[in-house]
Amino acid sequence: MRIAALLVAAGSGSRFGAEIPKQFLTLAGQPVIRHAARALAAGATLLQPVGEAAAIAAALGEVAHLPPVPGGATRQESVRAGLEALVPHAPDIVLVHDAARPLIPPGTIPALLAALETAPGAIPALPVADTLKRVAGGTIAATVPREGLFRAQTPQAFRFVPLLAAHRAAGDAGDGAATDDAALLEAAGLAVAIVAGSEDNIKLTYPEDLMRLERALLGAMTPRVGTGFDVHAFGPDRKLFLCGIEIAHPRGLAGHSDADVGIHALCDAIYGALAEGDIGRHFPPSEANWKDADSARFLVHAAGRIAARGGVLANADVTLICERPKIGPHAPAMRARLAGLLGVAEGCVSVKATTTERLGFTGREEGIAAQAVATVLLPAGAVLPACG
Ligand code: CTP
Ligand code: MG
Repeated sequence: MRIAALLVAAGSGSRFGAEIPKQFLTLAGQPVIRHAARALAAGATLLQPVGEAAAIAAALGEVAHLPPVPGGATRQESVRAGLEALVPHAPDIVLVHDAARPLIPPGTIPALLAALETAPGAIPALPVADTLKRVAGGTIAATVPREGLFRAQTPQAFRFVPLLAAHRAAGDAGDGAATDDAALLEAAGLAVAIVAGSEDNIKLTYPEDLMRLERALLGAMTPRVGTGFDVHAFGPDRKLFLCGIEIAHPRGLAGHSDADVGIHALCDAIYGALAEGDIGRHFPPSEANWKDADSARFLVHAAGRIAARGGVLANADVTLICERPKIGPHAPAMRARLAGLLGVAEGCVSVKATTTERLGFTGREEGIAAQAVATVLLPAGAVLPACG
């Protein structure tokens, strides 16, 4: 059974009113569209995005997908464009999903596929609970009976051939375009089944939806804490790099890479939170590649591992332990640099320092030590197998 997923992302987000279309905003550390793309990629063999190609490719990151195709003036036209692009792949089933709905509950796709065994279309929907009013000019014109009324969500699942035929028959409907795909099957007289929708499957429409989605997404994640510790000795003819910043100082730290002890401790904290070993496992000192390497790339790798697990860095805190240089004046630049490398807000990163009252190797200024702690939020499904 070939299952394709169509991810429509050609809208402009006019009701949301941000500077960029809402599907490219950041939600829980990742672009909105990537959340849905991951869930679809897990349930389908092909992922066809519709919309602006460069923006989509950047936002989807590591999620495998077909080349995006341009959308149309309406959602209906955008879906049609995506369906036509899928024709050469001849899928049996297509899941059509709004990029603006980042939270596809785990049971939804299996329920839709099961429903397709007896109907050509199936959608997740929720019964309307509130009393409905038709309003004209600020006053109520009528009460609309809510019996039998449901709110339609996506992904909507269809056998590919009848959906394509329904879209081709509908053509470009302009102002009368359908706002979902079930409507086209209904118009063609074909049965569309209902499976249980979810209140968490929120369509990002207005700014306040971003907060509701963040609560729903982060509330379903598990916090994981990791610690890191590193020491480098001062050595001859070296520049000093700390937390991604070059610091003017008479001596620099010796090491295989640029010896940025702060970044190394932070990387280990992140790998620790993920239970993915340590910096030496990912970048063995035995490999010549990493000689004098800019440690920034190690931190970008660690951040990439969080993203690959569908996680989010909640916060990181680095403590540098040395008599000199004095860290305070450099701390704001260090925070900004680390946050930039990690792709998080500066408020998520702390850099501070302490001396050891002239005691021990740091007190004698033989080297610098660093310790770090990081909190990573991981989706429950990614945590349970890892925790065994
Ligand atoms: N969409 C699309 N092509 C369009 C219009 C909408 O691909 N011409 C997509 C949107 O990107 C979104 C989904 O269809 O993922 C649902 O549409 P909606 O929530 O209405 O998004 P926008 O049209 O972008 O928002 P607005 O109506 O507020 O402008
Ligand atoms: Mg719209």
